[in-house]
Amino acid sequence: MKRPALTLFLLLGTIFGLRATTSPIPRESPSAQRGSVATVNPIATQAGLDALRAGGNAVDAAIACALTLGVVDGHNSGIGGGCFMTLRLADGRLLTLDGRETAPTGATRDMFLREGKADSKLSQDGALAVGIPGELATLAYASTNFGRLPLAQLLEAAAKVAEIGFPIDSHYASRVRATRNELAAFPDARTIFLRALPTVPAKGDLLKQPDLAKSYRALATQGVDWFYRGDFARRTAVWMQANGGLVTAADFARYEVVPREPVRGTYRGYELVSFPPPSSGGVHIVEILNLLEGFDLRAMGDTSADFVHTVAEAMKLAFADRAKWLGDPDFTKVPTGLISKSYAAGLAKGIRPDRATTVAGAGTPPFADADFFRREQSRHTTHFSTADAEGNWVACTASLNTSFGSKVVVPGTGILLNNHMDDFSAQPGVPNYFGLVGAKANAIAAGKRPLSSMSPTLVLKDGKPILSVGAAGGPTIISQTLLAILRTVDFGKSPREALAGARLHHQWKPDELHVEAAFGDAVIAELRKRGHQVVIEKSLGAAQAVGLAPDGGFVGTADPRNEGSAAGF
Ligand code: GLY
Repeated sequence: MKRPALTLFLLLGTIFGLRATTSPIPRESPSAQRGSVATVNPIATQAGLDALRAGGNAVDAAIACALTLGVVDGHNSGIGGGCFMTLRLADGRLLTLDGRETAPTGATRDMFLREGKADSKLSQDGALAVGIPGELATLAYASTNFGRLPLAQLLEAAAKVAEIGFPIDSHYASRVRATRNELAAFPDARTIFLRALPTVPAKGDLLKQPDLAKSYRALATQGVDWFYRGDFARRTAVWMQANGGLVTAADFARYEVVPREPVRGTYRGYELVSFPPPSSGGVHIVEILNLLEGFDLRAMGDTSADFVHTVAEAMKLAFADRAKWLGDPDFTKVPTGLISKSYAAGLAKGIRPDRATTVAGAGTPPFADADFFRREQSRHTTHFSTADAEGNWVACTASLNTSFGSKVVVPGTGILLNNHMDDFSAQPGVPNYFGLVGAKANAIAAGKRPLSSMSPTLVLKDGKPILSVGAAGGPTIISQTLLAILRTVDFGKSPREALAGARLHHQWKPDELHVEAAFGDAVIAELRKRGHQVVIEKSLGAAQAVGLAPDGGFVGTADPRNEGSAAGF
C-alpha cells in the first residue's frame, strides 16, 4: 500500500510554516553549544528545538515537547494525563513538579472490587479508570515560573501539528492495532483513531486531530482555566455522570500541581537528583545505587552474568520495599530511611554472589516510624530531556498510563483521559497492569495520587549537571534509568552507549528476571544456573537522555531501540 503521508506532511509543513525536517533527525545529536532535546518522536524533538531557537530556554523546550508529544505520541501521554518534571535551574536551584493525577473525591478504597475481587477492566478502561489530570497544570506552572516563551505560542505550534496531521510511526500504528477493540467502545476515540486511519494502520499513515487542535487553541486564548475551571471540566463532568464515572467539575477545580523537594542521593562521587513519592522511582534508584556501591561492578563488566545477577538481586530488595512502603506521601508515611546508606549496607549483606536469593518481603529501614517524605520536601508513558547553555536542565516523564489511557476521549475535545487509577493497589497483593503489587500505603483514597515508577533524574558531578535521563515502561522505568546511571558512572559510557547497553529488570514479584537477548546465551545460561527464572526480552523499554560531550557541548540521545530522535544547536 502506498503511504504518501510523510511527503504530504512535509509539503503542508512548508505551507503552514511547520519546520518539518527533510532528513530524519538522528537518534543522537552531535555536540551542541546552545542546547539539546531528546524525545521519542522527531516531530516533538523538532518542536523542542524550535522553542530553543525562538529564544526559549530548556523549560520552554520541555513544554513544547510535552504538548507536541500529546499530539504525535498521544497514546502515551497528553494533557489528559499526568507528568513528573525534575528541574535544575540556571541559578542552581533543584526542584521537582508533581503533576500526578489525583483520585476523584468520590473514590473509595474498594471501588474496583466486584464480588470481593479486583476487576482490572474497571481500573484500566472507561470512566472509573480516570484520575484528575495534572500534566497541563504542571506545564503551565513551569511556563509561568521558569519559562521565557508565552505558553500560547507553544500551544499554537502543537495545535498546527494536530490540525494538519502527522505520519504515525510504527509504534503508534502497532498501539492502534493492539487497542482496536477497546478504542471501538468509545465514540470519540473510535472516530479519531479508528475511522480516520486505515483499518490496519501502518507507519506513515496521516493522522489529523482537529478537535485536539481546537482544544489547544482554546487553551491558548482562554488560559488553563478552560481546562480546570471552564468548558473542558464541565464537559468531562457531564460525560462522567452519564457513563458511571466519579470525576466532577469540582475535582478539576481542586487540582494542584505540587512542587516537591527532589530525592537526593550520592553514588561513587556523583549526585543523584530524582523524583520523590508519589513516584517510587527516585527512592528506589537511590536505594539500589546504595545497595550496589559496595560491589565492584566495573570489574564485572556490564555484560557479564555477575553484573546482571548483582544488579537484579539489588532490584529485588528495592521492589519488595516498594510494595510495602511506597505511596502518596500526603496520605501515607514513606520512611526516608529507605535511601540511607546504612540501611542499604545491611540489606546488601544478604546478596550472595553464587545464587539468587528468595526475598520474603520488605525490609525495615531506620526510623521507619519517625522520619518520612513530606510534602514540603516530595512501554507506555514517555520521557524527554532538555538542557540549555544558561544551565537549565529538565528531565520530564509524562503518561496516560497504558496505551490510550482509559480510551475515553471527552466528546468534541480530542483529549484522551488517562487510566492512572490502575496504578493504585486495588486490593492488597493483587497485581496491577504491570504486575506490581502494593498494600495499604498505595490503597485508593479520595484526592490521593497513585504510586508511580516514573523517574525523571538528573546526575550531577561537583554540583554541575552531567546527565538528564528517564524512561517509559511501567516499573522497568526504574531499571532503565538505573542502568543508564550505572553505565555512565561505573563504565564511563557516553549517553548513547549508556542507553544502548543491554537491559535487565527484576521487580521482586513475579519472581522473574527479565533480560534482553543481547546479553547472550552464555550469560543467560549462567543466570539460570544461579537460580533465576529468566525471561528473555527482545527489547526492554524506551529511555531518552541529554548529557555532555567530551568537548563540553550537549549531546541528546534517544533510545536506539525505538523511533525517537535528538537534536541540538
Ligand atoms: N504509569 C506508569 C507509572 O506511573 O509508573
